[in-house]
Amino acid sequence: METLVSLCAARGFIYPASEIYGGIAGFWDYGPLGVELKNNLKAFWWRRMVREREDVVGVDTAIISHPRTWEASGHVENFSDPMVDCRVCKRRFRSDQLEGERCPEAPKKRAVTDCDLTEAREFNLMLRTELGASVAESTTAYLRPETCQPIFSGFKRVRESARQKVPFGIAQIGKAFRNEITPRNFTFRSREFEQAEMEFFCHPSEREKWFEFWRAFRLQFHRDLGFDESLLRTRPHAPDELAHYANAADDIEFLFPFGWQEIEGIHDRGDWDLSRHSEYSGKELAVTNEQTKERFTPMCIETSVGIDRTTLALLVAAYTQQEMEDGEERTVMRFHPALAPIKAAVLPLSKKLAEPAKALNARLCGHFNTFYDEAGNIGRRYRRQDEVGTPFCVTYDFDSEDDGCVTVRERDTMNQERVPMEGITHYLRDRLEEAL
Ligand code: GAP
Repeated sequence: METLVSLCAARGFIYPASEIYGGIAGFWDYGPLGVELKNNLKAFWWRRMVREREDVVGVDTAIISHPRTWEASGHVENFSDPMVDCRVCKRRFRSDQLEGERCPEAPKKRAVTDCDLTEAREFNLMLRTELGASVAESTTAYLRPETCQPIFSGFKRVRESARQKVPFGIAQIGKAFRNEITPRNFTFRSREFEQAEMEFFCHPSEREKWFEFWRAFRLQFHRDLGFDESLLRTRPHAPDELAHYANAADDIEFLFPFGWQEIEGIHDRGDWDLSRHSEYSGKELAVTNEQTKERFTPMCIETSVGIDRTTLALLVAAYTQQEMEDGEERTVMRFHPALAPIKAAVLPLSKKLAEPAKALNARLCGHFNTFYDEAGNIGRRYRRQDEVGTPFCVTYDFDSEDDGCVTVRERDTMNQERVPMEGITHYLRDRLEEAL
């Protein structure tokens, strides 16, 4: 992890937020390469979950909801971790993660009886803010701890305006916030993060069927990202692990350097959310089957994936050190070509060829994210692109003027091929699309 964290900062994938002030725990910034990688992941999710499906529509809702939302959803009452404070070091810990009564910061030789921990208290994880101009009139509001609640409160509006009938789903990608007590493992547990969630509404008789369907569908999604089978598994939740809204849940887990960890949850939320919002708002959210005239509150199967966790998994899976024939080592980020932040680097063999190479780059950059680089010898420039996972390097050399061709060098195999410049956009597009 340490090597990866350094590479991410050095190459501008991800680095601590507010870095010049010493950082702020649980917050991260994505640099020029990180934002491209994350955007490509989000675009792929949107394509699979919304564009390619007639039964799912997308929304983009406000981060702050009416405060009643979080009473209805159960988060005000239930979204908490049991915490203890250490009176010696003044730090706070999750009591369910302690080994006995010992403070994790205490020196090993200190006796357990000398540790001074408070009783466990429930600590709500929602981040609060105040709305309104004056303190006297302000209202406490929460930054959403999950993106899906406005999907439930907007269920009727979306169903009617999009002319959807149950079974159908509503999807959204957006920021979520949790006041995690122990943010850790790089971006894995952050206080500000992105989720891509889809709430699928179905008849009560079909909930098991749809739970199985979405579990398999989502597992395939992770395989399509290029994750090897050995890095993925699913794990059902034991009854005492279930969130307050869930009747059943399966995690999709990824093998990080710090062990198997959840990257996505598939949840059977039953009719918890629609029923509660109906009760708290006084608005009817049940539907009628037009054929049978049966009136029912739909059941909800949720797929909820962390965009930051999946981005981290992509970085972990892509990172490779390879020894080459000449004995040198190269670092290669083997991103799936469709997810790679830069698709093609345009490199003039010599600075003398800058003008036509820049013209070629100008042609390509309207189609893909490209990068122009004329600094250093060609071998060094290839290595720099390997290290950020660019699948293709396009070199303009002294023959290009005469034969109208460029050399395309492939990242993983390092094979080189002469390709006519005229068809280079199609050539690259075909090779990128082959992949997804
Ligand atoms: N709406 C259901 C829900 O929020 P969750 O299992 O609490 O379920 C879903 O979260 C996903 O969101 C997780 O699988 C994870 O990928 C991501 N996630 C949750 N908390 C996170 C955190 N503190 N930092 C980064 N990602 C997080």
